[in-house]
Amino acid sequence: MKESGWTVGKVAQRCGVNISTLHFYEKKGLIRSWRNAGNQRRYKADVLRRVSVIKAAQKMGISLESIKQAFATLPDQRTPTANDWKKLSKGWQGELNARIAYLERLRDSLTGCIGCGCLSMKNCPIYNEDDKLAAEGSGPVILDRAKKSMLA
Ligand code: FES
Repeated sequence: MKESGWTVGKVAQRCGVNISTLHFYEKKGLIRSWRNAGNQRRYKADVLRRVSVIKAAQKMGISLESIKQAFATLPDQRTPTANDWKKLSKGWQGELNARIAYLERLRDSLTGCIGCGCLSMKNCPIYNEDDKLAAEGSGPVILDRAKKSMLA
């Protein structure tokens, strides 16, 4: 694949995405291709890593806009090095840590009150008597409180 580049079909197959998804990522400026003599799209091998990182980040709920900003730190004209990816991950660390902490909090709160208004758990009267947390907002107020403080 080295010289002639990866075809859109091979990239889609190797990354486990649809060809239309690759076109969408390209339209969003997240990945780049070039045209060969036959005017066919071709990709450099590092597109496999970019697409895989996009998929992983989206699974974590990170927005395409945030991914795009992070990818903007990567060099365009050459394959990103480990240092380039390290720089990218540093920029993302805060958001990723907040999401990890939120997931941990969710995992650890499933046996207790999350402040959602159901009043169905044993300790709801302690943390959310008469659903007083409804005054603070909608959804799992206790969980979201933690999220806000992590992202602040
Ligand atoms: S878990 Fe729903 S209000 Fe406590």
